[in-house]
Amino acid sequence: MRTHFLLSMASSLVTAYRVDPLAHVSTKNSIQTVMDIISTSKQMGVVGLNDAYLVEGSRFVSIEGRKMLNFGSCSYLGLESDEELAEGAASAALKYGTQFSVTRTFASHTLFQDLHAMLHQIFGKPTVVGLSTTLCHLAALPNIINEKDAVLMDIQVHQSVQVVAEILKARGIRVSFVAHNHMKSLDHKVKRLKMKFERIWYLCDGVYSVGGEPADFDGLSNLLDKHKELYLYIDDAHGSSWYGTNGCGVAHSALGHHDRVAIAISLNKSFGCTGGAVVLPNEEQASLVSIGAPMVFSFSIPPPMLGALCASMKLHLSTELVKRQSRLMELIQYCHKELDRLGVVQAARNDSPIFFIPVGTPGPTLDLAKGIHDEGFFVTPFGFPATAIRRAGIRFTLNYHIQEEDISKLVETIKRLYEPTIMKYDSTCLYSWSDLP
Ligand SMILES: Cc1ncc(COP(=O)(O)O)c(C=O)c1O
Repeated sequence: MRTHFLLSMASSLVTAYRVDPLAHVSTKNSIQTVMDIISTSKQMGVVGLNDAYLVEGSRFVSIEGRKMLNFGSCSYLGLESDEELAEGAASAALKYGTQFSVTRTFASHTLFQDLHAMLHQIFGKPTVVGLSTTLCHLAALPNIINEKDAVLMDIQVHQSVQVVAEILKARGIRVSFVAHNHMKSLDHKVKRLKMKFERIWYLCDGVYSVGGEPADFDGLSNLLDKHKELYLYIDDAHGSSWYGTNGCGVAHSALGHHDRVAIAISLNKSFGCTGGAVVLPNEEQASLVSIGAPMVFSFSIPPPMLGALCASMKLHLSTELVKRQSRLMELIQYCHKELDRLGVVQAARNDSPIFFIPVGTPGPTLDLAKGIHDEGFFVTPFGFPATAIRRAGIRFTLNYHIQEEDISKLVETIKRLYEPTIMKYDSTCLYSWSDLP
């Protein structure tokens, strides 16, 4: 209904509307498609920006000399500007130097002991820490999954998991997709596969990075009870720290200490530092991950960042965390209220700090992002390959330092620019609104 109204207005008011050249690129040649989109985005000045740094906590970001409200950060609790973390980094740098240039196979830095001890307090299970979440996937998946297993992936599981799954495929392990958060389909596939394979691994995100929606944890919990052959590997990069007791995250809060669940987290995002970690159900699996290629051959997190990580974990074990988590949740609820008040449609409504306003193909999305940037708000246009080619949109995030007035101004700006921008485009460039909830 809304589609037809909007589009008939668009075609009657605008005589020569634009066809988005990026809407017709082939998704088969995905590298060329990504190159085309990035090159257009760069020409428009919405990606590939330089000279960026944070101002006033993380409330603002200065980019190429322009101070903008920061609605693009994944450091949801704003910890990267916390003094304790900065002091942790500085004192570790002064005490231990800028790096410890020995691979962990031979000796691991003393600060890892403190870090692991605090991660154990948070998650109550063994963890393996790596340089990034992607490298943790690379250490974990090929080592905990073997040829007797089959793998099912949510079609929207993060690209970093999908890339590592290619290694599993190359080893002859059966890997296939399941529709997004579709528990019926997962149930059906597990039922079939368990007749042939020992374990069926389902790989999914805890909180999906584009729209912020969670995995269907009730559904997954039921399926874990129903199929003892089902194992989960959950990428909770966007779900940890800002949520759960001591920041244990959305996935761990929902599923608890399950002996068939492994969870990957990011230390790059809400923990305010650098790195990734995998939380494993037992010591045996932790040992397998700790000998994964990136853990054995690569150097690890340098002492200054280990100092910051230890300070971050201390904060996660203190009452300061509760204060920050509650304030962020207030901002999230306020943002929903403002979007509702002005009738700005979201792709999905959830309680994460990630918001996604659907637009359509890359052209109008980039155009809208440029308009929003020009009004002083740093938001990020998201599209192919993170979304289907016609499902691009504006993604914005909230962090602890953002104020209610900032949110109101952003939502008002989106409301004001949205229709005039999309009306410049041919209807085939726009999101199919009937797909929205
Ligand atoms: C859900 C998810 N998983 C993994 C990653 C990759 O994290 P890293 O940069 O630490 O490898 C990202 C990056 O943004 C992500 O959003």
